Amino acid sequence: MAHDSFQTVESQLNWNAPMYKLYEKAKKNGKWNPTEIDFTQDRIDYQTMTEDEKITALPLVASFSAGEEAVTLDLLPMVHALANQGRLEDTMFLTTFMYDEAKHTEMFSRWQHTIGIGEMDLSSFHSDSYKRIFYEALPESMNRLMTDDSPEAVIRAATVYNMVVEGMLAETGYHSFRQIFQKAKLLPGILQGIDYLNQDEGRHLQFGIYTIQRLIVGNEKNQRVFNNYMDELWPDAYGVIDYLTSLYELQKAQDWINSTLELDTDAMRSYVTKQFEIRKHQVNRANKYSSAAELVKSEDVKQ
Ligand code: FE2
Ligand code: MN
Repeated sequence: MAHDSFQTVESQLNWNAPMYKLYEKAKKNGKWNPTEIDFTQDRIDYQTMTEDEKITALPLVASFSAGEEAVTLDLLPMVHALANQGRLEDTMFLTTFMYDEAKHTEMFSRWQHTIGIGEMDLSSFHSDSYKRIFYEALPESMNRLMTDDSPEAVIRAATVYNMVVEGMLAETGYHSFRQIFQKAKLLPGILQGIDYLNQDEGRHLQFGIYTIQRLIVGNEKNQRVFNNYMDELWPDAYGVIDYLTSLYELQKAQDWINSTLELDTDAMRSYVTKQFEIRKHQVNRANKYSSAAELVKSEDVKQ
């Protein structure tokens, strides 16, 4: 598409745009380097873990690695769509977003390599629910943006990518992984990495919430697109977590288990349910406003 004007020639960047402010935050807080995380102790820990303990950890690792790879590969159409709409500040923020996801993918691959499981095929740990979200719904909704940048297409893409994959599944997965291994005092390197990664995810979520909110403000039809798609994805989103908790429960049911790891499966199930409610509530708060301009000025768009 030809350009008919340039924002920074006719005037300047909108320094107060929410996504410009998020871009500033990303430059400041997103400086960590996966190469600099020391995984030496993780290697020792992993090698001294029992087989049963490894079996508890690996399905989570399989979910994180594929998840980070998927969001790295599937983000481009969002950049394409918003850039085509001339949303300069959003596009600038998204350049940091893609870089963040690249580092997340690198971190897990580097960690797996360092602890000695780089060549292990973990794909059998992906459940049907996992496949429906990460192999199908995510790339389908994102790729649609290459040819369709309608509000409906943007809302659906941000719903599956930012609200479900990042806001529910990643949040629940990392939270549980932390609980297990902090308590067991194991794998300090990857736990540190997950702290960095969580900070990045906070910004990604803000992008998603804002992007959906500005499209549903004062528009009931668009709001329904969001809520309906959330509801449609819920069974599989829950299914991803339910599968992981069930694996652990099956393992625990065998009384010969040789493991010191503790995973609170009920807490994990209620955590994902709570994340679903929180994400819906956060986005639907846009109801209070009558225009996108009013939303931008509000407290709901965190500065
Ligand atoms: Fe990520
Ligand atoms: Mn992310």
